[in-house]
Amino acid sequence: METRVLPITAESLALARGILAGGGLVAFPTETVYGLGADARSDGAVAAIYAAKGRPSDNPLIVHVSPEYDLEKLVKRVRPYAADLARAFLPGPLTMVYESRGAVSPAVSCGLDTLAVRVPSHAGAQAFLRAADMPVAAPSANVSKHVSPTSAAHVLSDLGGKVPLILDGGASEGGIESTVLDVTSPVPSVLRAGLVTAEMIASVAGDCRVSCHLPGDRVRSPGVKYRHYAPRALTALCAAGDAAGAVARYDAWEKAGLRAAIIAPESARSAIGGRRMISLGEGANTAAARLYAALREGEEIADALVGIGIEPTGEGEAVMNRMEKALKEKEI
Ligand code: TXA
Ligand code: MG
Repeated sequence: METRVLPITAESLALARGILAGGGLVAFPTETVYGLGADARSDGAVAAIYAAKGRPSDNPLIVHVSPEYDLEKLVKRVRPYAADLARAFLPGPLTMVYESRGAVSPAVSCGLDTLAVRVPSHAGAQAFLRAADMPVAAPSANVSKHVSPTSAAHVLSDLGGKVPLILDGGASEGGIESTVLDVTSPVPSVLRAGLVTAEMIASVAGDCRVSCHLPGDRVRSPGVKYRHYAPRALTALCAAGDAAGAVARYDAWEKAGLRAAIIAPESARSAIGGRRMISLGEGANTAAARLYAALREGEEIADALVGIGIEPTGEGEAVMNRMEKALKEKEI
């Protein structure tokens, strides 16, 4: 199949709408990462998403809608605190999991009675969802378990030949996937960390639990149990500030004949000396925006990648969560 990469125009949106209406797949930009969209109401279209990504069939999908979309069509009830959260953070990188009304294909939620819904803030994503005029099921537009895509080129490299159309909306600014929040209970619960933090949620909803990090906690978000975001390289991760540990690892790899690279905040540069470094810039938000491109660049230029973490506070917590998933000790 030929894959077209087109800027977002009236023509490409009309093409996208036609592809979706025919049960096909369209990759589109969002403020977090690129999504791989299909008609959420169609069993066949949703099955095509799983097939294109090689995604395990028990990892449910998020439904994407435009800001005007009437949520009541999709979900049974919106608790008052969830409505407050929507007013505070939507459109934006917060996905909320509600009791489903069963209006979309059961394959979207893998048979669960809940439904994850997201309203992206990216102008191109909104134009796409308005043109689609339907609820769009979309996971990140990468091959299953690989690093999520933050550019049209990343999508093309993973899914070229498997999807007919990639809408190019430039680099994703947020850079890591949305916060996934269960809002089916009296107290909201973070299932996947993101740039909307538990503290931000608690400040609006009064309280917030975090169920994805607590040791021994039951895994509520099915996707969290798979190894995700993994670059195709040997990997290791050192704590924030541990440039010495990263340098030792780098030098050992190089001595063994491997090409090594260090993924680190800009502040580590002098301690790293002249070694190959991919910079995450300064601050948690810049690190979030750059992390996935850095991992993809890393797997291109090196056989072995060691990361230096950032402080896991505020937005840094979600960045560290992704760095741990991508870089925690892996032999290949
Ligand atoms: O930022 C994002 O959320 C991106 C963009 C494209 O919107 N999408 C994304 O989708 O990251 P995906 O499929 O890669 O991750 C969806 C996450 C998974 O961890 C999945 O388990 C969880 O959301 N999820 C989906 N439906 C759920 C449900 N009904 N209950 C609990 N978790 C759910
Ligand atoms: Mg994903």
